[in-house]
Amino acid sequence: MSAEKEGDSLCFFVNGKKVTENNADPETMLLSFLREKLRLTGTKYGCGGGGCGACTVMVSRHQPATKTITHYSANACLLPLCQLHGAAVTTVEGIGSTKTRVHPVQERIAKAHGSQCGFCTPGMVMSMYALLRNKPQPTMEDITQALAGNLCRCTGYRPIVDGCRTFCQEADCCQASGGGDCCLSGGQNADEAEHEKPQLFDREEFLPLDPTQELIFPPELILMAEAANPKTLTFRGERMSWVSPPSLEELVQLKTSNPKAPLVMGNTNIGPDIKFKGILHPLIISPTRVTELFQVTQTPRGVWVGAGCSLTEVRSLLEKLVPQFPEERTELFRALSRQLGNLGSQQIRNVASLGGNIMSAYPNSDLNPVLAAGNCKVSVVCGGGRRELPLNQDFFVSFGKTILTPEEIVVSVFIPFSRKGEFVGAFRQAPRKESSFPTVTTGMRVLFSEGSRVVQEVSIYYGGMGPTTVSATKTCAAIVTRPWDDETLSRAYDVLLDELVLPPSAPGGQVEFRRSLTLSLLFKFNLEVLQKLREMNVITDELPEKMQMRPLPREIQASLQEFQHVSKDQSDQDPVGRPIMHRSALGHATGEAVYCDDIPATDGELFLALVTSSRAHAKITGLDVSEALRLPGVVDVVTAKDIPGQKVRKISGYEEELLAETEVSCVGQMLCAVVADTRAHARRGAAAVQVGYEDLPDPVFTSEEAVEKSSFFEPRRTIERGNVTEAFETVDQLHEGELRIGGQEHFYMETQSMLVLPVGEEAEFNAYVSTQWPTLTQDAIAETLSIPSNRVTCHVKRLGGAFGGKVNKTAILACITSVAAWKTNRAVRCVLERGEDMLLTGARHPVLGRYKVGFMNDGRIVAVDLQYYANAGNTVDDSLLVTEKMLLHIDNAYNIPNLRGHAAACRTNLPSNTAFRGFGVPQALVVVENVVNDVAALLRRPADQIREINMYTGPSVTHYKFEFSPESMRRCWEECKAKSDYGARRAAVDQFNQQNRWKKRGMSIIPIKIGIAFSEGSLNQAAALVHIYQDGSVLVAHGGAEMGQGLHTKMQQVASRELGIPPSKIYISETSTSTVPNTPPSAASYGTDANGMAVKDACQTLYQRLEPIRQKHPKGSWESWAQAAFFEKISLSATGFYRGPDLFMDWDTKEGKPFAYFTFGVCCCEVELDCLTGDYRTVRTDIVMDIGRSVNPSVDIGQIEGAFMQGLGLYTMEELKFSPSGLLYTRGPSQYKIPAVCDVPLRFNVYLLPDSHNPHAVYSSKGIGEAALFLGSSVFFAIKDAVAAARSESGLLGPFSLDSPATPERACLACASPFTRKIPASEPGSFKPWALNI
Ligand SMILES: Cc1cc2nc3c(=O)[nH]c(=O)nc-3n(C[C@H](O)[C@H](O)[C@H](O)COP(=O)(O)OP(=O)(O)OC[C@H]3O[C@@H](n4cnc5c(N)ncnc54)[C@H](O)[C@@H]3O)c2cc1C
Ligand code: FES
Ligand code: FES
Repeated sequence: MSAEKEGDSLCFFVNGKKVTENNADPETMLLSFLREKLRLTGTKYGCGGGGCGACTVMVSRHQPATKTITHYSANACLLPLCQLHGAAVTTVEGIGSTKTRVHPVQERIAKAHGSQCGFCTPGMVMSMYALLRNKPQPTMEDITQALAGNLCRCTGYRPIVDGCRTFCQEADCCQASGGGDCCLSGGQNADEAEHEKPQLFDREEFLPLDPTQELIFPPELILMAEAANPKTLTFRGERMSWVSPPSLEELVQLKTSNPKAPLVMGNTNIGPDIKFKGILHPLIISPTRVTELFQVTQTPRGVWVGAGCSLTEVRSLLEKLVPQFPEERTELFRALSRQLGNLGSQQIRNVASLGGNIMSAYPNSDLNPVLAAGNCKVSVVCGGGRRELPLNQDFFVSFGKTILTPEEIVVSVFIPFSRKGEFVGAFRQAPRKESSFPTVTTGMRVLFSEGSRVVQEVSIYYGGMGPTTVSATKTCAAIVTRPWDDETLSRAYDVLLDELVLPPSAPGGQVEFRRSLTLSLLFKFNLEVLQKLREMNVITDELPEKMQMRPLPREIQASLQEFQHVSKDQSDQDPVGRPIMHRSALGHATGEAVYCDDIPATDGELFLALVTSSRAHAKITGLDVSEALRLPGVVDVVTAKDIPGQKVRKISGYEEELLAETEVSCVGQMLCAVVADTRAHARRGAAAVQVGYEDLPDPVFTSEEAVEKSSFFEPRRTIERGNVTEAFETVDQLHEGELRIGGQEHFYMETQSMLVLPVGEEAEFNAYVSTQWPTLTQDAIAETLSIPSNRVTCHVKRLGGAFGGKVNKTAILACITSVAAWKTNRAVRCVLERGEDMLLTGARHPVLGRYKVGFMNDGRIVAVDLQYYANAGNTVDDSLLVTEKMLLHIDNAYNIPNLRGHAAACRTNLPSNTAFRGFGVPQALVVVENVVNDVAALLRRPADQIREINMYTGPSVTHYKFEFSPESMRRCWEECKAKSDYGARRAAVDQFNQQNRWKKRGMSIIPIKIGIAFSEGSLNQAAALVHIYQDGSVLVAHGGAEMGQGLHTKMQQVASRELGIPPSKIYISETSTSTVPNTPPSAASYGTDANGMAVKDACQTLYQRLEPIRQKHPKGSWESWAQAAFFEKISLSATGFYRGPDLFMDWDTKEGKPFAYFTFGVCCCEVELDCLTGDYRTVRTDIVMDIGRSVNPSVDIGQIEGAFMQGLGLYTMEELKFSPSGLLYTRGPSQYKIPAVCDVPLRFNVYLLPDSHNPHAVYSSKGIGEAALFLGSSVFFAIKDAVAAARSESGLLGPFSLDSPATPERACLACASPFTRKIPASEPGSFKPWALNI
């Protein structure tokens, strides 16, 4: 490559329009190009690492060899712009728009209520769109595969799946209509159900899918592809060059002269390395035009597959070949294809190459163990010639390294046919079933002598058991030449145990689990081999039915969503009580909805990047910003000294520094901020800031350490009813236990985002912030800049999810951004990267719960003493309020006469934790329900009986002397038992467990009673401002923020009813502190209650004002009345106000009225657990909720489903992991798993309790945002139930400990299978664990 050569121009198409880029920078990914250069902001940033799907686009290419056009979904965040030469990109804006025609995919996802905050929606739309371009009538399996890599934190996926299901051919029955008993399920007659039950959506309304309407592939690109360009293409950027040679010969030359330059194919390894590890490659070689790398050649012994083929292409090829050959020849093909089906997501598989996967040499690559066990080989080429090398233990040298020299290029991979008597197995266990790197993965192959069970060859490889793919050579030696029987296998397990040892502090942790998986995956292979030997009549002994293993069920079925019709007398025009679509749903689905970072940049705008502490507890000895200031584009650095006003935020009597000045108290604490002309420059600047530290002794990380050192935020609270100590003397049995519940990352899809603009005069600022509490942000900015609040306007259009995480932390970030805007007098934007966001904004509090319970032999719980330690982190934030709310809920649904709770907020050197949906209630209640479960286990009685015995009944009083009626809670309980057919299914579960040794089912039914509204009385207020314009259109403003919970939609419904006009005449533009001031946060499930009353008040005022006009012109229209009112000088603008209840809690007397009322619900779940791996699937969920008279059943059901799934994540999969020095390891979707489509219960029924009323909230509704999150714990307890059944096989009865989340690791180890019991536990204290148990 000549250094002087001018860069070529890059040509591709976006949405049918040609893009020519003369200075394409190899560092630019398609996502930022679309968003910043083309202003196509529908494609979203959610993680930047291929793990969330928010950035999904469709890429199309013409293949000259086959004269076909391929379409595939891809993550724009990992697609280098330079890779797109000759491609056509379709984004969400390219398929439909509200201005022209909405695409059927957009329409169906929107109308099926598949969008809440809408931030994931464009990605979902594009994944589904790409599927439909390839297969207009997909199966449900196709749909779930296509959506597996798209995360949604709001909806719980059910409505998205139901919207997409309408494209399935097999869904051409009432299943597809989104509700009602299905005609296939043998339930009610379909017609009857249609008429009797209201539906969430009507599929009759949907536009048909018409493939002829799609954008055509640009003919210019066909010509370009056909006219093979013999030229090397070069693109040069600021720091990197990109070279794309046209032939293998030139590729070899290039690689020989630049051995360090990586070959970028799918960029799914190199891309994240560049982005997250800051690795800089001055030269990138792109071999995508080298045809040899894509060739497939079949030989009598197998097939050579080009190393450049994508994993999707490899899978399709294998699937095509399998039916063409006898089964015995395709063992390896099928094993590989199975493994490929679970590797990464569809978007990743569509771009990641076979050669890239091999050469990445990941320790836990899914393919390498199978390729190695299957005797595959690679053909490599370099300047010195070609050679073939087997993919065996010698090939994989160490982490990310193979035996190849840096000059060598893998051209193709040989996958052999299997031989007669040869079996191949591929297994993996991952933290999440799909779109997740495996914890342990394996490929196994055995060859038997003809007609015998004697092993002729065996080969076993594992991933996840060391720095690279490892061979279990000694284990193989213990098997080969022996008969495949119990004796051989049992020796093999012992050898394997000795052979694959992990040190107790091995990177990645989970040491016991990983070791046990090596055994249990070999056992699974054994079961498969025995089955095959039996089919071949080599052995005759039948494997007992009980020992057999079938895969977990996976097809998501149509579910029920039941709600009450509005009353017959309600006018057709009145939308209250009807399942109205989210008012922005079509905007979400078309990518038109504007989020904070979609606001166009203003002239001279700067970007802010934060510098954070790398130490948990240290003095700051120096802050050197000189290097950063020298970098291109860097404009300034903001430190604490620059803050003109208050340098701290005060909460609960404690102070939190905005930017640390002298000392840091956690890793991730903010130290200073760099502002630069672009994001990339700001981030490079931040990385160049040098910080000096002097470590301070004894950082505190865990709750136990905090207790030992008495490190608390005060006050610690206690509450008691009855006399627990005395009652313990009178009971039949006493029991003590402990439950640890992990924290939870909010993982709102839109990271913290803000833009602060100086207006330019009189110290006025406009702040566009993604916050739940505009007033707090406004006041905080004003205090920080030392200006009055009237100079700051905080605007919130919508949030891409929040869940409690966009209150206090957002205000601090907005303060820092505003200082930068003030100092530079320029607009400053701050949008956190996903990793930064996870690192520095805190999470749900991890809690250690300890308890002692006294109970009678008849099941009555007489006394409970509970102690909660919440890990608050380094600042107080809302921790004291969280611990108080925990104590106010310790009775849950139970009338326990003697009940005591203590709660402490532990001060530790971890990032400060904050509010999260449920605000402590989910942590408090899971401990309470665990107590009930333990009592049931001790009494050997079903847990639901103990729950029933102790449940509140009749007029009741809580432990803080609040009177209430539990009548509708008991109705929920009874309805849930009936709807779920609890009795019969419980019996079926028991029967299943008797018939299965390695799989167990479990069931649980869990109630919730949750208090609604703020216990700090002053926050229970709301205001609204409503304008009627002369054309009759109405603008409503209120204090609540729209964050996906459908608040604006409900407010539109309220205004529509009160003004008597259709919702289409009503618009809600934004929430702004200049229109509605002094508002409380949108939180505590109180948004609709409070703002609904305020909007109602304002609308009623206006309605009254118009009364004389209406009297005068009874036949007039709404528009004519509005105009007449103007001419009669009647004000068409009114404020509304709601003075909510004066709630309080007196912690001295321990009495109060901290809630307006209770929302009740009950959830029944059934799971199936694979006891060998801990993998599980929620087979069915039935939720009955009492939410009074729902204002909008589709929104409320959405809240229930979404919260439930978030709870499912909390209690069964989401794990925050910290290093021993307090660094958060889990800083992105690759390490932190939230539920995905594969986690949706296979049947997910939600019923709103009919005939329930609530005098305390607007139109008799109830707050619902938070309640159902705790119901996710019924999955936890169902898993526990299944584990108990597994333990009983080993004679282990009675209570046992299972911490939350019940991850596959915990569930598997708790099952105490013969395999887990073989693993010697490491002695605590004898080693430094890889991760802290906080
Ligand atoms: C979100 C996500 C999830 C994932 N999940 C999984 C999973 O579950 N299981 C799993 O196994 N993997 C998983 N992966 C990894 C993924 O499969 C690999 O990153 C991918 O296969 C690498 O291929 P690529 O074409 O993208 O490589 P690139 O990133 O383009 O290149 C990777 C490396 O391979 C070298 N290379 C590429 N081709 C050749 C060649 N022909 N000859 C010599 N060297 C070459 C390059 O020089 C470079 O060093 C995941 C990745 C992501 C981002
Ligand atoms: S932003 Fe691209 S996958 Fe998350
Ligand atoms: S609607 Fe999916 S993330 Fe909010």
